[in-house]
Amino acid sequence: MTELKGKKILLGITGGIAAYKSAVLCRELKRLGADVRVIMTTAATRFITPLTLQALSNQPVHNDLFEAESDHGMGHIELARWAEQIVIAPASANTIAKLACGQADNLLVTTVLASHAPLYLAPAMNHAMWRHPATQANVELLISHGVKIVGPDAGEQACGEVGTGRMLEPGEIAEHLQQQFQHNFLAEKQVVITAGPTWEALDPVRGLSNRSSGKMGYALASACKDAGATVKLISGPTALHPPYGVECINITSAQQMADAVMANISKCDIFIGVAAVADYRPVNSEKQKIKKNQETVTIEMVRNPDILAMVAALDNAPFTVGFAAETENITSNAQQKLTAKGVDMIAANPVSGDNSAFNSEFNELSLIDRNGITHLSRCSKILLAQRMTKEIARRYHETYSTKDS
Ligand code: PMT
Repeated sequence: MTELKGKKILLGITGGIAAYKSAVLCRELKRLGADVRVIMTTAATRFITPLTLQALSNQPVHNDLFEAESDHGMGHIELARWAEQIVIAPASANTIAKLACGQADNLLVTTVLASHAPLYLAPAMNHAMWRHPATQANVELLISHGVKIVGPDAGEQACGEVGTGRMLEPGEIAEHLQQQFQHNFLAEKQVVITAGPTWEALDPVRGLSNRSSGKMGYALASACKDAGATVKLISGPTALHPPYGVECINITSAQQMADAVMANISKCDIFIGVAAVADYRPVNSEKQKIKKNQETVTIEMVRNPDILAMVAALDNAPFTVGFAAETENITSNAQQKLTAKGVDMIAANPVSGDNSAFNSEFNELSLIDRNGITHLSRCSKILLAQRMTKEIARRYHETYSTKDS
């Protein structure tokens, strides 16, 4: 891919052990043809020397808010105007907090605040710091401002603990940046996406649901929006913040999801059913809390509407994409769903074992249509969603150019 040829990328490096990977990221961006300028915070210079980044970027490295102009002829305003894209990798909890509240007390944050360039953050920190409510609240706020968060990865950390907080690998971060420069291949298209679980109430406090977090569906909504589409996200209960610029309709039950989809489908070009919709709901939802005065309880269930099949069966149906969460015979079960539900494409999703897609930051998919299978290997859901969006767009355009001709 050559999407970064001549692109002006500002790489911000903050203080964290993952700063050593920023050298590899800088080299990768240069290899892809980008013009890279680097700002390091003072803490970052404790982990990796400016000389390393200077040699790799072939440019002076910026650090000091007050001496930058006199030293290098490029102050924060010039850097802010120059950048077409800003990526901060690693982004420490401290820098994330400063960005969230606009505390411009160093060159990096000052430059970001003065820039209109899209901002990508690749967080890296101890897993407890990442999970801390303060960090999560700051991340949510930044997402609501349109900042893209790439990662973090899960696994063993430099501190010896295991959890979510490792910086994504440089190659994956570079791919995120490449995607950003691709054309608006879904411009003027309307996309409706379902995401998350549904909740089928048994009584006012209990219900039946599943482990879907909504991450895959929200990532697809974000990727379609970035590709130029107008996106409506119809979401079951999740803890996620809707992607910037995406209209989100919150529902609880499968019936409510079906009603919301049908109310929004008429102008839709592409429908993607990512939600883990309950197949059945209790016949009766009790008005009062069920008392535990019996040894066993039998709950009578009734089928919920199959939203995906309903959309695919519409006259003038949109290009319809389903997901198939499978624990065994993944491809053949997904192929059956492709045919039974009459959809244009289905994403077979393995969900058993340690690598289950449910509530994970990562996933892998096999995209199945009538022409064959395309495997998208395991990576972050954000990147996977970008890859899948491209595949959907390609098939959508092929289908409609054939119909029109
Ligand atoms: O939310 P995450 O934690 O990120 O996890 C993502 C995911 C695992 C939930 C997602 O990638 C996924 O696989 N979603 C589909 C889950 C599912 O319920 O699959 P299914 O095989 O039961 O359903 C097949 C398809 O029919 C799905 O597109 C589903 O949205 C749709 N369906 C199912 C039942 C129903 N009543 N109506 C539907 O529209």
